[in-house]
Amino acid sequence: MTPEGSLLAAEGLSKAYGPTPALDGADFSVHPGEVVAVMGPSGSGKSTLLHCLAGIVPPDRGTVRYGPHTLTELSDARRSALRRTDFGFVFQFGQLVPELTCLENVALPLRLNGTRRRDAERQARDWLERLEVEGAAGQRPGEISGGQGQRVAVARALATRPRVIFADEPTGALDSLNGERVLTLLTNAARDTSAAVVLVTHEARVAAYSDREIVVRDGRVKDMAGRI
Ligand SMILES: Nc1ncnc2c1ncn2[C@@H]1O[C@H](COP(=O)(O)OP(=O)(O)O)[C@@H](O)[C@H]1O
Ligand SMILES: [Mg+2]
Repeated sequence: MTPEGSLLAAEGLSKAYGPTPALDGADFSVHPGEVVAVMGPSGSGKSTLLHCLAGIVPPDRGTVRYGPHTLTELSDARRSALRRTDFGFVFQFGQLVPELTCLENVALPLRLNGTRRRDAERQARDWLERLEVEGAAGQRPGEISGGQGQRVAVARALATRPRVIFADEPTGALDSLNGERVLTLLTNAARDTSAAVVLVTHEARVAAYSDREIVVRDGRVKDMAGRI
C-alpha cells in the first residue's frame, strides 16, 4: 500500500478529540527531499496530521511508517529519540528559548545530540549565516523581529540535518515579503541537505516552493486534482 520509495508514509490515520474527528482516514506520503505543501481551511486537521506524522500525537487508527520503522508501534522513548535525530520542527511562532541567545538556540539541538560546544556553536553560526540572520547571533529572541525569529527557528530546525522538516504555518505571523523570504530560505536549505519538507501554509505562491500540494478537508487528504 505504501507508495514506492517514500520516506514517510501514513495510511488511514484517524484521530478524534472527544466527539469531533480531527483526522478521518487520512493517507499521506513524502519522498526523500520532496517538499509537500499542505493546504486546507482552519480546523480541517492539518496540525493534527503533522503531529501524527511526527509521532507527537498517537492516532486512534492507522499507521505511520518512517523508513524501516513503524512509528505507531515504537515505544515513546524510541519515538522521541528518532524525533530528535531525524526530524526538525518550525512552528508559527518560533518557540525559541527566550533566555538563550539566537546562537545558543540554534546550537541547542546539536548539544542535545552530543555535539561539543565549540563545534555546535560553529555550525550554529554557519546556519544563521545561511538564513541571512547572522547579525542576531548574540541577541535574545525578545530583541529581534518576527521575521528574524523565524529565520533563527528555521536554522535551529535544520542544524541537526534532519531527514524530515515539519513546518506548521511558519510564516503565518509574518507579512508577505518576509514570509516569502523565509519560505525561500527554508526550502532552499532543505533542498541543499536533501531533507523532505511537510509544510502547512496559506501562502498564495506556495506552488513556487513546493514539489506537490495536497489539501486537507474534514480530516482527509486530497491532492490538488481532488483525485484521492
Ligand atoms: N488538542 C486538542 N483538543 C481538542 N480538540 C482539538 C485538539 N487539537 C485539534 N483539535 C480539533 O481538531 C480539529 C482539527 O484541528 P487542527 O488539526 O488543529 O486543524 P488545522 O491545523 O487544520 O487548523 C479541530 O476541530 C480542532 O478544534
Ligand atoms: Mg493548525
